[in-house]
Amino acid sequence: IHNEDSSSILSDIQFIVTALACELKETNEEIKSKRLVEEYINKTRPVVLANPRYRLHYHIAPPVGWINDPAGFTYYKENYHVFYEYNPFNTSYGKTHWGHVISNDLVTWTQLPIALIPEEELCFSGSAIEVEGTLVLMYTAHKNNKYSFNETQYLAFSNDGVVFNKYVKNPVISFANNNYLDFRDSKVWRHGNWYYVVTGSRSSEYKGRVLLYKSKDMEYWEYVSEIAKNNADLGYMWECPDFFELNGRFVLLISPQGLTNKTTDRFQNQFQVGYIIGTFDYSTGNFKEEVSFQELDYGHDFYTTQTLEHEGVRYLIAWMGSWDATFPEREDGWAGAMTITRQLTLNGDRILMKPVQAIENLRGPPIFDGYLEPDNIISLNQTGELIITVNVTEDLILNIRGENDVALLILKWDMATKKVVLDRNGEIRQGEWKPILSTSWRVFLDASSIEVFCGEGEMTFTSRVYPNGMWRVVNRSVQAVNVTAYSLNRSVPL
Ligand SMILES: *[C@@H]1O[C@H](CO)[C@@H](O)[C@H](O)[C@H]1NC(C)=O
Ligand SMILES: *[C@@H]1O[C@H](CO)[C@@H](O)[C@H](O)[C@H]1NC(C)=O
Ligand SMILES: *[C@@H]1O[C@H](CO)[C@@H](O)[C@H](O)[C@H]1NC(C)=O
Ligand SMILES: *[C@@H]1O[C@H](CO)[C@@H](O)[C@H](O)[C@H]1NC(C)=O
Ligand SMILES: *[C@@H]1O[C@H](CO)[C@@H](O)[C@H](O)[C@H]1NC(C)=O
Ligand SMILES: *[C@@H]1O[C@H](CO)[C@@H](O)[C@H](O)[C@H]1NC(C)=O
Ligand SMILES: *[C@@H]1O[C@H](CO)[C@@H](O)[C@H](O)[C@H]1NC(C)=O
Ligand SMILES: *[C@@H]1O[C@H](CO)[C@@H](O)[C@H](O)[C@H]1NC(C)=O
Ligand SMILES: *[C@@H]1O[C@H](CO)[C@@H](O)[C@H](O)[C@H]1NC(C)=O
Repeated sequence: IHNEDSSSILSDIQFIVTALACELKETNEEIKSKRLVEEYINKTRPVVLANPRYRLHYHIAPPVGWINDPAGFTYYKENYHVFYEYNPFNTSYGKTHWGHVISNDLVTWTQLPIALIPEEELCFSGSAIEVEGTLVLMYTAHKNNKYSFNETQYLAFSNDGVVFNKYVKNPVISFANNNYLDFRDSKVWRHGNWYYVVTGSRSSEYKGRVLLYKSKDMEYWEYVSEIAKNNADLGYMWECPDFFELNGRFVLLISPQGLTNKTTDRFQNQFQVGYIIGTFDYSTGNFKEEVSFQELDYGHDFYTTQTLEHEGVRYLIAWMGSWDATFPEREDGWAGAMTITRQLTLNGDRILMKPVQAIENLRGPPIFDGYLEPDNIISLNQTGELIITVNVTEDLILNIRGENDVALLILKWDMATKKVVLDRNGEIRQGEWKPILSTSWRVFLDASSIEVFCGEGEMTFTSRVYPNGMWRVVNRSVQAVNVTAYSLNRSVPL
């Protein structure tokens, strides 16, 4: 079946997809709904603008309303695109649209109009791929009915990367091959002359699954295999699967729901992101696990991811949130944000996540550079980047606090247990760190978030936190702490 070298199949694919794109469907009703959403956003924005205390300076966040899973992370027509599940009308999940931002450096983001509007379906997460100049979105249509729900896979097209039209013959996959209703978050890629898609699923015993399909034309999909399943204690449903090669090995990235075994430092969040490393054979669809599930990030708020490969580099962005989070910014008319973009590499059996290089362009002149003396305080405004050179032979304790002690973070290196600890007002997240490439840390502070990168992204902590004003960093260790600190400029709309 696999005729990977046939160029006639390739031109067939292109012809078919271009033809699909011509069958555009944007109805007057859809155009009107999109305009009404934009008008609603414009009308509601003053509420958000009047309350900037938690508004992030360099993280993607909704102009108003609620965001969760990232979607459609792709490079198209000279820009990186990020879409996201979006409810403009409420600071809680619901009425899922796709919001849309673009960037040419993965750091500075510009808001675009709503990309997908819910009609008979809610527009759940999915992915994007460029085919012959057309940007094709493949997303999950979620329909609630009286007793239950239905999830199928839809397509939408754009020839300018701004206006998207749903395919007239949706759905293109109308049921999950294992017959379960949970069937969502399609991630599509191309290999040879085939398109492949992985979709999250579960079994009747509430165990997460990932299903693989393939297609020559993005319209007729054939089921290939169940490439991975939870045989242990790894959640009742696996969302947002992503499958790619990294440094020559195959990585399956998944977002399991319902990790409840908190007996160790692992799985402190019941909504987690993790990865399985293995080998994959395209001719059989068989993914063989070599390294079992590892958590990707150790922080409090990191759930659902999207990756993209451009010019040989794999980038990742995640929802900097969790279904268990309280989102105090709701009071200000918005809720939720994305992480900064990270660059992925594989080192041994561990994925390293480094901040994308271009984020250095946001730095102002250094605010502090040297040893932090006793009782010396580094005062930052709402943003900051700290580069901390850790002496791993002694404990390190830094207090990072907000105004009026509303938020107190304690970042530690515990020499005895070899653990990095992030204590957020008493809620501990920690893990063992064996430095691989360096012993310095980079800490990114924003008006309501912290991201810690240990070594060269060897261990990361991503959490929301609400300083309600300035950040102050105080050395509480016995060791000399070498710190360089910068403030960071705004790179997203207020
Ligand atoms: C919303 O506001 C933006 C920016 O001011 C403007 O460009 C756009 O036309 C407005 N949209 C609607 C539908 O009013
Ligand atoms: C917003 O969502 C909450 C929680 O789902 C719901 O109780 C409330 O009615 C919603 N408000 C609006 C205006 O839809
Ligand atoms: C979901 O809807 C599709 C049509 O859009 C239909 O083919 C499929 O059978 C439905 N699934 C269930 C479980 O009702
Ligand atoms: C929870 O994790 C611990 C440590 O890994 C393991 O020993 C135990 O069997 C797990 N419990 C369940 C219910 O899987
Ligand atoms: C913080 O903001 C104040 C007032 O705008 C300004 O004077 C000060 O220079 C800023 N400090 C830093 C570190 O950016
Ligand atoms: C690290 O700490 C040890 C123990 O105090 C000290 O001997 C050593 O000089 C320190 N190393 C650096 C690079 O500061
Ligand atoms: C860090 O703070 C502690 C406690 O205030 C102090 O004992 C230590 O000397 C400080 N280290 C440096 C390098 O200032
Ligand atoms: C402090 O750390 C920086 C890297 O952030 C390094 O260049 C510098 O040499 C360090 N200073 C000392 C005295 O160790
Ligand atoms: C950061 O913002 C300030 C104030 O708007 C501006 O003067 C400076 O050039 C900016 N720096 C960078 C690196 O963009």
